Amino acid sequence: MNKERKLIVAGNWKMNKTVTEATALVESLDRDLGTQTDVDVVVCPPFTALDAVSAKLRNSLIKVGAQNMSENDYGAFTGEINAGMLRDLLVHYVILGHSERREYQQESDAMVCSKTKAALAAGLKPIVCVGESLAQRDANETEAVIGGQLQGSLAGLDAEQMKGTVIAYEPVWAIGTGKTATTEQAQQVHAFIRREISKSHGNEIAQTIRIQYGGSVKPDNARELLSQPDVDGALVGGASLDAGSFSDIINNTRN
Ligand code: 13P
Repeated sequence: MNKERKLIVAGNWKMNKTVTEATALVESLDRDLGTQTDVDVVVCPPFTALDAVSAKLRNSLIKVGAQNMSENDYGAFTGEINAGMLRDLLVHYVILGHSERREYQQESDAMVCSKTKAALAAGLKPIVCVGESLAQRDANETEAVIGGQLQGSLAGLDAEQMKGTVIAYEPVWAIGTGKTATTEQAQQVHAFIRREISKSHGNEIAQTIRIQYGGSVKPDNARELLSQPDVDGALVGGASLDAGSFSDIINNTRN
């Protein structure tokens, strides 16, 4: 697939996989993908498996991401993990503001923004998630919601920080439901996101930044979704839990 920006496909394992299962998964994934370099591939295991997965992938092209982190540097924050601890495990990416965290942990745009800045300051690449609910889409509020989330979550980021950031558009109604946005729906919102970034940070940044689509991405729909001009990759949930289906997604997007 000949794309303007290098594709980035990340697997968000959510709260799945023991250490044994996680290392087995990345071992077969690494074998399946071999030495391909045309797509950036990231796996995001739960915190408990980060160390083992990172060690397994030390000589691999597959990068490791976390699913969340604290906005604080260190201190009395029981149960939290900071950016430095992730860097220590050779983690390169961190998913921030996933809709499940926005919903179940009440993460606000302001909090996502603080986390994004803390991640960037530590040298991590944040994958900042935005997305509308079905009710918001039905009420024609998609652009207003996404526009607000972008503004709030990326507030005050300078050009360099934006270049180190990935955006993930994940319509909440498409997550884990088997309902995928149509290619037109995805392209429309991705183009809107790029226009918004162009307005806030200029055209050069808007043309450089990568925007992933997430929500029921599977081997059989990945190619069509990712062939859209403004879709620069995928954030995959369920289908990333199996090495075969995740590598099929990646291979299906390659030439
Ligand atoms: P599914 O691919 O299972 O729909 O999950 C998408 C997602 O939430 C990735 O972050």
